[in-house]
Amino acid sequence: MEGNILIVCYSYSGKTRKIAEVIQEQTGGRLSQIYPRQPYPADFDRLLSQVSEESRSGKFPMLLPVTESADIYDVVFVGSPNWCGTIAPPLAAWLKKNDMAGKVLLPFFSHCGGEDKGMKETVRKLCPAAKIGSSLYVLENGRENLQDMVQTWLEENFQKK
Ligand SMILES: Cc1cc2nc3c(=O)[nH]c(=O)nc-3n(C[C@H](O)[C@H](O)[C@H](O)COP(=O)(O)O)c2cc1C
Repeated sequence: MEGNILIVCYSYSGKTRKIAEVIQEQTGGRLSQIYPRQPYPADFDRLLSQVSEESRSGKFPMLLPVTESADIYDVVFVGSPNWCGTIAPPLAAWLKKNDMAGKVLLPFFSHCGGEDKGMKETVRKLCPAAKIGSSLYVLENGRENLQDMVQTWLEENFQKK
């Protein structure tokens, strides 16, 4: 596959990570998982209130250092679970910190049946000068359909470019 490809994802419980791995297998790109410096609470109510506050205020968490810089990549896949209809704050933090101008950005999201109430829009706002392709939405980790879903999405959004 053409171009220099980076796959960045945040995953709380491993499902977005699974999607990222399949994208990695099919594109041969470099996979880089991001982590908040302070892990999120395991308790769901505490997690939810922290996430709501971060998304509301735009005060995204600090991230652990990552070895991969986005600078040398032409194509960047960015993945996150759907958290309260939008992207998880760690991915927002990464997008805010990295300059995506002129790059092809392909978002992929894991969810549990809820709608996109601002995931795509948030990516667009944080990366106004990127060329953003259509997003891939996967129910949880896509199970046995994951390989085919990723392949079809890549054919429609990426390989033909
Ligand atoms: C704090 C929190 C909020 C969530 N909000 C939504 C939501 O609004 N809509 C939805 O479809 N799924 C929601 N989910 C479910 C996750 O998107 C889903 O379980 C996803 O597969 C998890 O991906 P991960 O394993 O990469 O973290 C939420 C999960 C958490 C922990």
